[in-house]
Amino acid sequence: MAGSTSNRAVLVVDFGAQYAQLIARRVREANVYSEIVPHDLSAAEFAARNPAGIILSGGPKSVHVEGAPQLDPEVFDLEVPILGICYGAQLVAQQLGGEVDRNGRAEYGRTQLTRLGDSALFDSDVPVEQPVWMSHFDAVVEPPPGFVVTAKTKDSPVAVLENVERRIFGVQFHPEVVHSPYGQRLLERFLRDACELGPDWNTADIIEESVKAIKQQVGSDRAICGLSGGVDSAVAAALVHRAIGGQLTCVFVDTGLMRAGEGEQVVETFRRHQGIELIHVQAADEFFGALKGVVDPEDKRKAIGEKFIRVFETASAGIEDARFLVQGTLYPDVIESGTKNAAKIKSHHNVGGLPDDIEFELVEPLRQLFKDEVRAVGSKLGLPDEIVQRQPFPGPGLGVRILGEVTPDKVEILQNADVIVRAELADAGLEADIWQSFAVLADIRSVGVMGDERTYERPIIVRAVTSEDAMTADWARIPHDVLATISNRIINEVDGINRVVYDITSKPPGTIEWE
Ligand code: XMP
Repeated sequence: MAGSTSNRAVLVVDFGAQYAQLIARRVREANVYSEIVPHDLSAAEFAARNPAGIILSGGPKSVHVEGAPQLDPEVFDLEVPILGICYGAQLVAQQLGGEVDRNGRAEYGRTQLTRLGDSALFDSDVPVEQPVWMSHFDAVVEPPPGFVVTAKTKDSPVAVLENVERRIFGVQFHPEVVHSPYGQRLLERFLRDACELGPDWNTADIIEESVKAIKQQVGSDRAICGLSGGVDSAVAAALVHRAIGGQLTCVFVDTGLMRAGEGEQVVETFRRHQGIELIHVQAADEFFGALKGVVDPEDKRKAIGEKFIRVFETASAGIEDARFLVQGTLYPDVIESGTKNAAKIKSHHNVGGLPDDIEFELVEPLRQLFKDEVRAVGSKLGLPDEIVQRQPFPGPGLGVRILGEVTPDKVEILQNADVIVRAELADAGLEADIWQSFAVLADIRSVGVMGDERTYERPIIVRAVTSEDAMTADWARIPHDVLATISNRIINEVDGINRVVYDITSKPPGTIEWE
């Protein structure tokens, strides 16, 4: 989509907390296009983007702290509807002449909100008393001139403030989180009534606009797309194919480190069903060669990543006149790149991640989309559920789920165990609640007894976690009888395994993967 859409955006101003992304997603869920922008844009820069509305996100603890981020005051005079959330609400109050008290008004977690009088934000059937999610230290105690107070809590006398004429609003609670059950309706009311926006951001339009933009960018040239088997590259390829058909060639590098049946599924889906020209590079031997004797997790990632680049380069060199490279970059990657991230925990340089000095021009049709939008686009383009609903899978694949040296026979053992884990969780109807579930092959042996024989074999570790975004995770509370079936089946059906353990570590302190 090359950074353009005909929809006027609602700009979500990022004040540095983790809430901006969630707000932007909630706006999109209301079928309104949203973008995240930094808080230090000038009023002129805001105006140049011609926003349909502005939402100020939550942020640091207090507007009173020295250096606390502010909004260019002239933004309030742009006559664009504004909704301040939490810190954003306090900014509205402080910058327009109200009072924010810094003493003893903190509220964290679930709080009871009481509505006061008529409101332009609450639908009339929303209860007078409702639970909301709070996370703030200071509180607005005096609204600015021209504002009315339409809700309070025990410790926030000004929990919602409104100036309907200027279309400027503030809410102290977080309407974007699920713990505020009427929050989404409040956001929708702001979008519909204050911003006068209809629900005009939908999957069919996204596809149509992307196709137009891709055609314009690529013209009559050729494009290449590396498929990993994952959702993002699959949807990017299908979208670009919709736009330029036979000018697209996909390259699928089979590393031998995918889960059972995944390689075949990629080939089947893209070559047969989508009719996309596909080069299937069977490179398992090369990858096993590169992994011989490598045991350190970071060295494995590096070996796999480097081998991938070389194999991909060789395969794509054979595609004559290719000028464009399709990448499945998503909106969260765009937002996050450039922010100073926390210490490196694992080098997530992806397999499929290509070097910076690549000679292609990039086509990134998913740059404006969140993951759930990408999945919806994929389904609409006819990709099967096994691909669009697929769990996240690490680029280095089973290479980081086999502790110690990676060999073909260990991959086979792990694939056989992994199939059982996934099948049993699917059978029990648990997949939708689980973020990732898989088997890990440990690098130790233990004594067991099978029949009358002593065994001395490896254990399989079963890992299943719930998560929102992979940054934090909890171990999934899988019913014991499901775990029992998984254990029995793995021991009976997978040679080389005599014990099954379930990982009950959250993240932090653990990570989702074992390496
Ligand atoms: P961890 O193990 O750090 O994983 O909790 C967080 C998420 O990232 C995935 N992961 C990777 N993805 N290349 C990737 O593309 C990698 O090297 C890699 N390591 C972990 C992991 O599956 C989880 O979704």
